Amino acid sequence: MASFVRELERRAGPALRLEQRSGGVGCVVWDAALVLAKFLESGAWPLSRRAVLELGAGTGAVGIMAATLGADVTLTDLQELQELLAVNIENNRHLVTGSVRAESLEPLLKTLRELTGPDTCVLCCYEQRTVGRNPEIERRYFELLQVDFELERVPLDQHDEEYRSEDIHIVTIHRKRTNSPS
Ligand SMILES: C[S@@+](CC[C@H](N)C(=O)[O-])C[C@H]1O[C@@H](n2cnc3c(N)ncnc32)[C@H](O)[C@@H]1O
Repeated sequence: MASFVRELERRAGPALRLEQRSGGVGCVVWDAALVLAKFLESGAWPLSRRAVLELGAGTGAVGIMAATLGADVTLTDLQELQELLAVNIENNRHLVTGSVRAESLEPLLKTLRELTGPDTCVLCCYEQRTVGRNPEIERRYFELLQVDFELERVPLDQHDEEYRSEDIHIVTIHRKRTNSPS
């Protein structure tokens, strides 16, 4: 299987080395992952000793970056991505100051509902697509998400100055507060 390494520079210390492969969508580092990893590195969200769950981690770029910033990270993706995640964790373990492990999970919305509590904050970063069925799928995804969650976009001027793009959005997702009967 063809593989090639993508380096992800860090402000402090050596770059992350992320193995990429030919194959499915999860086998390469996406631009949205670069944007979120560099946003986390800016320190806007202190991560030391925070528990972090990355959903659909692919190569693990974002979660491994978070682990180098002191977070205790669980990377999740489908079963077929587990081996690549394991390789990337091992290749970068010497840079990790928190902890990092990988797991496979069920579909995204179900996962979000099951793993979030009233104080959980989910960070979602995605590249907006305009072709094919992508806009429709995106609209439907956010519609379903907003049944149980509140969404807020992180303004572009808070993203990393270099790693930002008009069509890559960072969104915070919190569970809606349910009003208990008085
Ligand atoms: C576009 S890739 C993005 C990968 C990585 N986050 C990045 O930005 O480089 C989407 C990822 O979501 C994963 N994925 C799709 N359905 C999933 C599910 N039900 N549970 C967990 N991961 C899933 C895919 O395997 C793939 O790795």
